[in-house]
Amino acid sequence: MPNGLRRRENVAGMDANHPTLAAYRSAVEQMKNLPPDDPRNWTRQAEIHNEWCPHGNWYFLPWHRAYVLEFEEICRDLSGEPEFALPYWNWTRTRSIPDPFWQGTLLDDTRQVAQNEKIDEPRFVRQRLIDRIMRGRNFELWVASSKGRTVDGRPQDNTDPKWQGSPSQPEVIVGDQSTLESRPHNYIHVWISGNMGSFMSPLDPIFWLHHCNIDRLWAEWNAPPHSHQNTSDALWTDFQLSPFNRVVGDLQDITQLGYTYDTLAQPQPAQPSPLPPLRERARERFELMEPQVASLEREVSFPVETPQSALPLVAEAIAEEDVAEDGGPSVLAIVRDVEPPQDLRVTVNVFLNCPYLSAETPVSDPHYVGSFAFFGVHGDHGGHDTHMKSFALDLTDTVDRLRALEPDLESRLTVQLMPVPLEGRDVQTEEIRIGGVEIVYT
Ligand code: C2O
Repeated sequence: MPNGLRRRENVAGMDANHPTLAAYRSAVEQMKNLPPDDPRNWTRQAEIHNEWCPHGNWYFLPWHRAYVLEFEEICRDLSGEPEFALPYWNWTRTRSIPDPFWQGTLLDDTRQVAQNEKIDEPRFVRQRLIDRIMRGRNFELWVASSKGRTVDGRPQDNTDPKWQGSPSQPEVIVGDQSTLESRPHNYIHVWISGNMGSFMSPLDPIFWLHHCNIDRLWAEWNAPPHSHQNTSDALWTDFQLSPFNRVVGDLQDITQLGYTYDTLAQPQPAQPSPLPPLRERARERFELMEPQVASLEREVSFPVETPQSALPLVAEAIAEEDVAEDGGPSVLAIVRDVEPPQDLRVTVNVFLNCPYLSAETPVSDPHYVGSFAFFGVHGDHGGHDTHMKSFALDLTDTVDRLRALEPDLESRLTVQLMPVPLEGRDVQTEEIRIGGVEIVYT
């Protein structure tokens, strides 16, 4: 252990007998054999997720960091390997589930993908997307936009545990999903499907390596050379995550937690800065809240009127590359109150001001903004299908590109949502209800 830190390493290239995987397998096997009332029991781990995991708000990353950390500790104890560190699965490079996860204890036979099946959806995991996510300066957009909102619209103003937005809590809390969450994270869940497609996803041993990779990306975003900052907002840092005995502020520096990743030269995070919440520092906001229903391969459009004043300001700043370190000018679209489809193998492509949009319009089109996938909507708790989602998308690059093509752009931004099936999947008609679109200039 260099510097006394446990090193989480890439699973690629580890064969089934690699000491790390041997230790992991031994721990998982023992957890599966423990009595159900033992807190280390395998199914019990998944139940913790099913009961408590926050999705679609700014506790998503720290909660899953604590969760993986405690799981790793159980593995360390049971395997008898005090230096054991979980490996991660970097799906950007390794496009299929690694071979050792297709036999014995590490197999989950509910998966809907085959052993050698490769992720062929560049929209969700490709390096260019990850690079873009890494360049993102805006904490709220990155770690999940803004503070959660209840369905009645009241914003978070305290650290009451209910704001965690756990699936088992009766009150439905709505926040926004970041690009990291709504794209690669959700996509990997629904691509694998079976247990991985539900809140019981930790039953699949690959879950932990998936989340280890998400955690790695957060750690990299904080560390040099990116050195982006988390917020110092007390509603975030002082929040106590259930059922763990940890507050968010203590989960920011992974070296303090005793680990690092093999991709990090310098694991130290940047100092948090007092970044005000998105809605407080937004220069202007415009919204069009008129619910519409999109169906498979049939788009809906939200033409949001934006006054002349705001956009040129942003566009000028981008053009001059006057991009401030603190999260400079950007244009965001928040797709609000989305009621997910029944069949989660539907994803949504988002375009801006595209006059010729069809289901075949490629994601290489200049009007393409981004995509999102759904995860964690139909929980095992019955009656939680009302869990509506909001998705935050960064329009800045697209606006910058389109300014050259469309002189009129400055007075109207038409956000277009096109539901398409997951590549190669046979999906019947599906409907997605969308509450509206909000445009935010920051
Ligand atoms: Cu709480 Cu990827 O799951």
